[in-house]
Amino acid sequence: MQRISQQQINQQWENIEQVRRMNEVYPEPPRAFCQTFGCQQNEADTERIAGMLKEMGYEPTEEPAEASVIVVNTCAVREHAEKRVLGIIGRYTHLKETNPELTICMCGCMVQQEHITEKIKKSYPRVDIVFGTHALWRFPELLLRRLGGSKRLFEIGGSDEGEIAEGLPVLRGKGCHAWLSIMYGCNNFCSYCIVPYVRGRERSRLPEVIEQEMRELVAEGYKDITLLGQNVNSYGKDLDEPIDFSDLLARLDAIPGDYRIRFMTSHPKDASAKLFRTMANGTHISHQLHLPFQSGSDEILKRMNRKYDSAQYRALIAEAREAMPDVVLSSDIIVGFPGETEEDFLQTLRMVEDVEYDLLYTFLYSKRTGTPAATMPDSATQEEKQERFDRLLKTQERIIERRQNAYVGKTVRVLIDGTGKQPSDYPMAGRTDGGLLVLCRGNNLNIGDFVEINIEKASLRALFGTQV
Ligand code: SAH
Ligand code: SF4
Ligand code: F3S
Repeated sequence: MQRISQQQINQQWENIEQVRRMNEVYPEPPRAFCQTFGCQQNEADTERIAGMLKEMGYEPTEEPAEASVIVVNTCAVREHAEKRVLGIIGRYTHLKETNPELTICMCGCMVQQEHITEKIKKSYPRVDIVFGTHALWRFPELLLRRLGGSKRLFEIGGSDEGEIAEGLPVLRGKGCHAWLSIMYGCNNFCSYCIVPYVRGRERSRLPEVIEQEMRELVAEGYKDITLLGQNVNSYGKDLDEPIDFSDLLARLDAIPGDYRIRFMTSHPKDASAKLFRTMANGTHISHQLHLPFQSGSDEILKRMNRKYDSAQYRALIAEAREAMPDVVLSSDIIVGFPGETEEDFLQTLRMVEDVEYDLLYTFLYSKRTGTPAATMPDSATQEEKQERFDRLLKTQERIIERRQNAYVGKTVRVLIDGTGKQPSDYPMAGRTDGGLLVLCRGNNLNIGDFVEINIEKASLRALFGTQV
C-alpha cells in the first residue's frame, strides 16, 4: 500500500487551479452533475469528486441537462446495478446532441473491471473519461487533459494494493449527516463478491487523520457521523501502531460535542465482545449493529468463505444483546447462492426468526464474473430462488411489524434530519439512536435537533410520534 505523497497531491491542486482558470472565462459558472450507484463508500467517494469539481469552478446541479460535466460513480456488486448504470449512460450520451461541450465521466467499482472498460471503449464512444477506484484522486488531472483536447481517457490506476490519498477537497451533502471513511478495500474474498477485486486490499487511514476530520465535522455542526469501511473490524491491522477498531471508536467518542457515531459494516468473523463493550460504554456511539450473516446454513457459509458458522454468529448476537439490550440489529442476506437447497434456505429463515432483526437487506444471488462462486454448480431454478426470496420477505414483515409496534407508547430520542416525503400530520423525519426512521411532529422542530418523541403508531417502514 502506498500513501500518496504531498507532492502528488499538490500536483492535483495545481490541476484544479488550471481548470478553475479555464472556467473563469464563462459569464456564469458551469454546472456539474454527479450520480452515485452502490454503497455508502461510493457516496463518500462522490463527495470527494464533487469537492474537486467545486474547487475547479463548477456549481453542483441536480439537472443533468444543464451540466457541462457529468460524473456517474458506478457499482458492480450485482448485475442489476451494472445494467442500470449502462442504461443511464446511454441516456446521458444523448445530451451531447444538444450540448456537444458536455464531458461525460464514469468512475468507481464497475469500471475497475477490464471487461467493462472494454465494453465502454467499444460501445459507448461518447463517454469521455473512465477512471477506476484507484485513480479517483487523479480526477483533476484527467479532466484537465480531456478539456485540453486529449483523446478519450481510460485510467484504472494503481495496483490491487491500492493507495490512500489525503488532503483533497470534499463537498458534503446538506443536512446533519456526514460519512467518514476510516479504511478502504477488502481482504475477505467472500466467494460471491466482486468488491475485493475492484476496491483493492484493506488499508487504514491513520488514526490522527481520522480524529482530525472527526473534530472538524463536529465543529462544523454535523450530528450524525457514520464511520465507513467494508469491514471496519479489521481497522488498524495494516498499521504500525497497535490500534484496533474498538480503540479507534473509543478515541473518537472522547471528542466532546453533541453528536452520535455509527459505523458500517462489521464482518462477524472479527466482531468482538470488546467492540460491544466499547459501544455500550460510549457516550456518542449509536447502539446500532449491522452484522451481515448472509446465510444460516453452515455448508453455504463455508462455500461463501465467510469464516464463521451459524453457532458462532448466534453467540455474537447474544453477546451484543447482553451488552446492549436496546441494540438495533440488521443484516444482509443472499438468497439463491449456487447449490443452496431448500434445507439450507430453511436455516436462513430460522436465523431470521430467532434473531428478530429490525431491518434486513435481502438480495438474490447475482453471478459476478471472476469470483469463485461464478463457476460453482447451481441447481435451483430462478423461480425457486424467487419463491424463497418472497418467503423470506413475508417472514421478516411479520417480525418487523411486531418489533415496530413494540415502540408504540414509548419515548425515544430522535435526531431530526429531514422533512417527510409528502405533506402529512408528521412533517419532520428523524432517526432514533439505533437508526430507526421516525416521522415526527412538534413545535419548531429543526434539522439537527435531538428531541424526545413519544411514539403513537408504527408501520413497517417508520414510527410516528409527537415531541414530548
Ligand atoms: N462488506 C460488506 C458488504 C458489502 S456488499 C459485508 O461484508 O458485510 C453488500 C451486500 O451485498 C453483501 O453483504 C451481500 O449481502 C450482497 N452481495 C455481495 N455480492 C453479491 C452478489 N454477487 N449477489 C448478491 N448479493 C451480493
Ligand atoms: Fe464482499 Fe465479503 Fe468483502 Fe463484504 S467482506 S465486501 S461481502 S468480500
Ligand atoms: Fe458497489 Fe463498490 Fe460499494 S461494488 S456496493 S459501490 S464497494
